[in-house]
Amino acid sequence: MRTSALLVPTIARLAVALTWMGLSSATSLSAVAPLTPPAATDLRCEYMVDPIGIDATHPRLSWRLQSTERGAVQSAYQIQVTQDGKLRWDTGRVASDRSVHLPYGGSALESSRRYTWHVRVWDGGGTVSAWSAPASWEMGLLNAEDWKARWIEPAASEASTAPQPSPMLRGAFAVKGKVKSARAYVTSLGLYELEINGTRVGDQLFTPGWTSYRHRVQYQTYDVTAHVRAGENAIGATLGDGWYRNSLAWGNRRHVYGERLALLCQLRIEFADGRIETVGSDGTWKSTTGPIRMSDIYMGETYDARLERPGWSAPGYPDRDWLPVRVVDPAPRTLVAPAGPPVRRIDIVRPVRILETPAGDTVFDMGQNMVGHVRVSMRGQAGTTVTLRHAEVLDKAGNVYTDNLRAARQQVTYILKGAGDEVYEPHFTFQGFRYVVVSGWPGEPTLDSLVGVVVHSDMRVTGSFETSSPLLNQLQHNIRWGQKGNFLDVPTDCPQRDERLGWTGDAQVFARTAAFNMDVAGFFTKWLADVGADQQSDGAVPHVVPDVLSEKGRGASASAAWADAAVIIPWTMYLNYGDTRVLETQYASMKAWVEYMRRQAGDANLWNTGSHFGDWLAFATTDADYPGATTGKDLIATAFYAHSTDLLKRTAAVLGKTDDEAVYAALVPKIRAAFVREFVTAAGRVGENTQTAYVLALEFELLPDDLRAEAARRLAADVRARAHLTTGFVGTPYLCHVLARHGHLDVAYLLLNRQQYPSWLYPGTQGATTIWERWDGIKPDGSFQDPGMNSFNHYAYGAIGEWMYRVVAGLEIDPEEPGYKHVLVQPHPGGGLTSAVARLQTLYGEAASGWTLADGTLTVSATIPPNTRGTVCLPAATLAGLTESGVAVASAPGVKHAVQRGADVLVEVGSGSYVFVYPAAQLESKPVRE
Ligand code: BGC
Repeated sequence: MRTSALLVPTIARLAVALTWMGLSSATSLSAVAPLTPPAATDLRCEYMVDPIGIDATHPRLSWRLQSTERGAVQSAYQIQVTQDGKLRWDTGRVASDRSVHLPYGGSALESSRRYTWHVRVWDGGGTVSAWSAPASWEMGLLNAEDWKARWIEPAASEASTAPQPSPMLRGAFAVKGKVKSARAYVTSLGLYELEINGTRVGDQLFTPGWTSYRHRVQYQTYDVTAHVRAGENAIGATLGDGWYRNSLAWGNRRHVYGERLALLCQLRIEFADGRIETVGSDGTWKSTTGPIRMSDIYMGETYDARLERPGWSAPGYPDRDWLPVRVVDPAPRTLVAPAGPPVRRIDIVRPVRILETPAGDTVFDMGQNMVGHVRVSMRGQAGTTVTLRHAEVLDKAGNVYTDNLRAARQQVTYILKGAGDEVYEPHFTFQGFRYVVVSGWPGEPTLDSLVGVVVHSDMRVTGSFETSSPLLNQLQHNIRWGQKGNFLDVPTDCPQRDERLGWTGDAQVFARTAAFNMDVAGFFTKWLADVGADQQSDGAVPHVVPDVLSEKGRGASASAAWADAAVIIPWTMYLNYGDTRVLETQYASMKAWVEYMRRQAGDANLWNTGSHFGDWLAFATTDADYPGATTGKDLIATAFYAHSTDLLKRTAAVLGKTDDEAVYAALVPKIRAAFVREFVTAAGRVGENTQTAYVLALEFELLPDDLRAEAARRLAADVRARAHLTTGFVGTPYLCHVLARHGHLDVAYLLLNRQQYPSWLYPGTQGATTIWERWDGIKPDGSFQDPGMNSFNHYAYGAIGEWMYRVVAGLEIDPEEPGYKHVLVQPHPGGGLTSAVARLQTLYGEAASGWTLADGTLTVSATIPPNTRGTVCLPAATLAGLTESGVAVASAPGVKHAVQRGADVLVEVGSGSYVFVYPAAQLESKPVRE
């Protein structure tokens, strides 16, 4: 029975009466019943909408309870799954408030089958919704035997010293009968683009994606029903060197995974009469080369349009002079369906100006440091050669600066065919750039001659953060663009120089920020599988994943804070998405890493061996009396050993691995004690007295209670004395958290607001549109940092983003109820800001936390998604002076409980949007609640 609408005010009045009567200092009985029937919407399977070609054998289903009412909850659900009209799974009515990650529990799922599902839900008052709109998922090829097609490679011999022309492969098949549906399952060694009957299949780029190719290669599934027709058909695939065999890492290293490109392509055609036919790559295919004369991720692409082969992927194309292909059996690798989103063209950036540099170059300024490629449109004579060079910055004199690209040429060359309007964009390369130097252009280029195509993994945008400070908003913009530029199938350090590798440390420090800006669950699930695949047998985690450095002895040993990505990122995904499966699948990898450290640290529990990157790129000067901040690598290593062991202990607890939980619960205090013995004095000095030393000791809770305040005081004093941070990659992400949590919010804001070098805002004052690798990539005098290590698009220092979301705006996760099942709203006004707001699309719906300071009044707004609850902490508030949407807080609908706790008021709320208003008089710098 639902509570009638008329009752609600009565309940609210009753609550007020109870409060007056002193029965409860602040309790309301306003358990509000929704006024409109509930609905289940936004159905997802494995984070995706109607995915095809997945290989999770128990895919997880999620939906949102749709409601704008306050206090909306789900009390029960029912899921039904059908396949070809037959019911395969019916949960019946399950009394549960779970609406995310419900694992399919029906009979075994079969390759290539499509499953349709819907769900209905009961709300808190017991009213049942209508069945949701149907959603579906389709399985990929689950067994090795499902692959009937053969791997093929072009038969032509190739030189192995330089990039080669892209092979084109073509096959034909006949279709007899009415096609009901058709799927293509495709993968390659190297990259591929597929066409059927003259039309490109899908809009994905850089397929099959970059994985640990020695162990796992992804295949894509495409719905090609509309491509296939009765009668003769043709398939064409163009291959590119890609990560498989083009230059990778510095030193012009090629063929890291293999020398020969290959294709595997299988079509499954289902006919209206129920027949199923499978065709695919085999020895009847033919091969040649065409317009792509070379392609290389770092170097660029050369395309000779005169060599195009019109109609090459259409039936009837004369391929008599094409060469045969070879059927090959490449080393066994697991073929896996993608767990993360594909790479696509995401945005278009139009140039803002064309300039002539002092050196005489014609340069397009895109106005934004971006990653992807340029699409050019032109007319000219056949044979005209247009060259595009890409650069991130101009130097002091206004000339294009490319020294920081190191060996990456980033050059795209197009040779015109002379046939009217020609439009071209490269296929198998990407560039990091703001400036494009154009030469050889036929006629005068104009602002309409080219556009920038932004390319990255197609992650749903989930978060936004905005304040009253334009500089901070620019910082948030730069962080987002750092993520856009470096989440291109793997999390890379940088997108422009001869690196672009999955550096584990960089990913680790940025993962939590990334999870605010975009939905990174699938993206990291995929990458973490590669972390596990590339982990060495002794548990060592490589510096980069996919690992292209370990063989040849480079980067053979594991580095603290980098390798810890194996533990920290799964835990971060669990916190953000409530995803226990990623913990389950990564558990062996997480444990192996901790055990590796345990062996290194020995009985002394100190990790003081090995080689580590340390507090990478920390503040350094040439001043004789303060050369900069160097934090001991043994201190960092032992601190991360303690931290990862602690997270492993928590993971074991979540997964119910009680034996392991006990083992690691016993180990953590031992490491902490060893840390204190070795690095902490009785007076509270930590290590070398650097900011990072204090930050790690406090963030990882390594200090005894009685030394914490003193350590925090020393940290704050150091920041005040220098007026700036001195931290590198390792200390920076936690710096403001630690300061604020220990009563130094004002010092944290001082760092955040600082505009001079070194600071987060300094690059913005120099016109940066992305995060820089170094605090002083461009120095105050306009000169550049060392070209050997000076990326202008490196997200690591963008890790301050999570502090802005979590602390400045105040949107926080309760680790006990992860995935925002219990939303914490705890804003921290300060730093001279007059407003801040963070919004996030959680799996349950939108959560938001924001505040505005005006005319002596603080307004805090909170949005709690349906089927979750929230705790709002109102800083420096008193119950008496507090209203919510104009009424006394205790009587506001949706408010379950409000209580004074010290200087703050804590309000427990159900779902809904709330606006709290109170006098700001007592607002001052104050500790963040733990
Ligand atoms: C990368 C980094 C990485 C570092 C480790 C650099 O070349 O760009 O961001 O973490 O190496 O040494």
